[in-house]
Amino acid sequence: KPRVLSGMQPSADSLHLGNYLGALVNYVKLQDEYDAFYFIPDLHSITSPDGATNLAERTRTTVAQYIAGGVDVERSTLFVQSHVPEHAELSWVLQTITGFGEASRMTQFKDKSVRYGQDSTNVGLFTYPVLMAADILLYQADGVPVGDDQKQHVELTRTLGARFNHRFGETFKIPEPMIPAEGARIYDLQDPTSKMSKSSASPNGRINVLDEPKVIAKRIKSAVTDDGNVVAFDREAKPGVSNLLSILSVVTETPVATLVEQYEGKMYGHLKVDTAEAVVATLEPIRARTLELLDDPAELDRLLAVGAAKAREVASETLGKVYDAVGFLRPQ
Ligand code: TYM
Repeated sequence: KPRVLSGMQPSADSLHLGNYLGALVNYVKLQDEYDAFYFIPDLHSITSPDGATNLAERTRTTVAQYIAGGVDVERSTLFVQSHVPEHAELSWVLQTITGFGEASRMTQFKDKSVRYGQDSTNVGLFTYPVLMAADILLYQADGVPVGDDQKQHVELTRTLGARFNHRFGETFKIPEPMIPAEGARIYDLQDPTSKMSKSSASPNGRINVLDEPKVIAKRIKSAVTDDGNVVAFDREAKPGVSNLLSILSVVTETPVATLVEQYEGKMYGHLKVDTAEAVVATLEPIRARTLELLDDPAELDRLLAVGAAKAREVASETLGKVYDAVGFLRPQ
């Protein structure tokens, strides 16, 4: 089977709807046809100013959301990045073949460093995409299911993998980004020209997987829509309505074009009510199951130990090849 690998950072309270629709939905779909590796990039988290706050608890909560969302630990390998030391080790090697200018061009670094300010921008934030390349290349992944905002990082991964192969001999598989046709970029409900993110200006712009149904419904019903009253998909002229259509399209597995036909002659209010209902119906069972799973943290930890052991088998083999290729004197 071809292999996929992906991960979502353990955010403070919950994954948000963008993470769910842009990434998690696809993790679940891919696990039959692919040998799937899904992980929690906790090493990445500590590059943000509050990244170490309640990290262990956040990591478990995120793991529970993966499972509640449909990641099946029988079919997929689920693990925590810091449990597999090879990620940090390979990252170091890759840093030495990454250009300073190349890393400086990463748009997420540029955005985040402006947002964090000079005092909170650390060197780890700068090398973050190289750690991500290590995550992917270690597992010889064929595909990387991500939302649109991670595309540039996957491109860097391809560049670094190819450069290493060229310089030291064929070692890594070069992965493809797998970006869904619908849901790859979910926008903020209050500011539908910016993507939904954990750092949105207003919490009303974001829906968290673990939000109460009432809160979800309210936020969708008070989403910013656009002038006019025709439900149509037009990112430029109708970003708010288009965002609701994308959300409804993914949660109901209905093409946007079909939805647009269904809403012909109907008001924005109908679209909001239906979207709210569909999102609540999707997220409510995930929320309930997450809370249930969190009642037994020892069981989650046990599953993660199994996952880490499986992940390490693959990761250590690749790292061994890398060290040999570079030409380190290996311990005997
Ligand atoms: P992170 O934690 O920011 O996001 C996790 C996943 O959610 C997607 N996503 C979105 N999709 C649609 N609309 C949105 N508004 C939205 N916001 C986020 C992201 O594209 C991502 O797929 N660097 C990564 C984590 C990572 C990783 C990796 C991913 C580390 N190593 C290796 C893949 C492979 C990140 O911070 O994603």
